[in-house]
Amino acid sequence: MDEKEKFEEVRKPEVVEESIWVAGEAIKKAPKMYGVPTGVEGLDDLFFTTEVHEGKVVKKPLGGIPAYSVTNITGVSDTGKTLIAEQYTIVQAKRNEPVAFVTVEAPAPFVSVGLRERAKAMGVDFESLQDKIVLIDAASHAKLRENIPDLLATLAYAIKTYKIRHVVIDSITGLYEAKEMMARVIVRQLFNFMKKWYQTAIFISQKRSGHEELTAEAAGGYAVSHIVDCSIVLSKELILTQAQSKIYKKPIGEIVRLFRIDGCRLCGHDTRTHFMEITELGLVKIGPPLSAG
Ligand SMILES: Nc1ncnc2c1ncn2[C@@H]1O[C@H](COP(=O)(O)OP(=O)(O)OP(=O)(O)O)[C@@H](O)[C@H]1O
Ligand SMILES: [Mg+2]
Repeated sequence: MDEKEKFEEVRKPEVVEESIWVAGEAIKKAPKMYGVPTGVEGLDDLFFTTEVHEGKVVKKPLGGIPAYSVTNITGVSDTGKTLIAEQYTIVQAKRNEPVAFVTVEAPAPFVSVGLRERAKAMGVDFESLQDKIVLIDAASHAKLRENIPDLLATLAYAIKTYKIRHVVIDSITGLYEAKEMMARVIVRQLFNFMKKWYQTAIFISQKRSGHEELTAEAAGGYAVSHIVDCSIVLSKELILTQAQSKIYKKPIGEIVRLFRIDGCRLCGHDTRTHFMEITELGLVKIGPPLSAG
């Protein structure tokens, strides 16, 4: 008996019948496509769907990121990822939709201060919505960072207890620290979990290098962007040359912040690189496309 025969004797191939769907049946189970507002000015108009109107196919703005999607926001340090995560969290809580904020970087009390600051900047009363935000402190509890099943069990418990609809993880990179070869496996587990529990999720990931600045490549490990539904890339550039100064219309020595939707497999999206601003109050705003001017 050769190796192959031995293997087949141990375990005969099985038909996994549940994995086979006729598209007409699958579509009945598909969640409805609608937009979830992000709390980031200028961002919600950049996603769209198509509709047939009087025999013509037309673009229809979605008014946010697609519901039930998993969006990866990536960028190097200090590009505004956490600010966007906070703005998203505040706006969901304000819409009366409970959010879980999984913090991997800073302990929960620090995150709550950031959230309160963001609410203030957005002109929103934090006290009226603070109970819609559930912090899961994986920064202080190594067990949650190092053991994904524990993290997911904790998250499932929180989802059931607080009727959570949105999950923010800041950052997924902290979940595969020192084991980057596991990044794909871990992100896949997180992604499948969000789908199973019908969550709209924001995964923050840290980009290690400034190479390929405005792509999701090298975003906190390997091929995260191939797993998630949507990828958003943030970058910043220091203006040092006349040429840069001319392109970005800013004086030498200033920072220009850029924003781009790298991809979204659930709906149409703007593909241009946009100026991005972080206001004095610490609010991210998406500006016009570079090409506009
Ligand atoms: N009022 C403010 N509050 C907070 N951040 C502000 C404020 N005003 C400007 N900023 C800028 O926003 C940046 C913070 O961005 P943020 O914390 O979202 O970065 P990040 O992309 O999450 O970085 P990291 O990968 O290090 O976590 C600061 O570096 C600062 O330059
Ligand atoms: Mg951050």
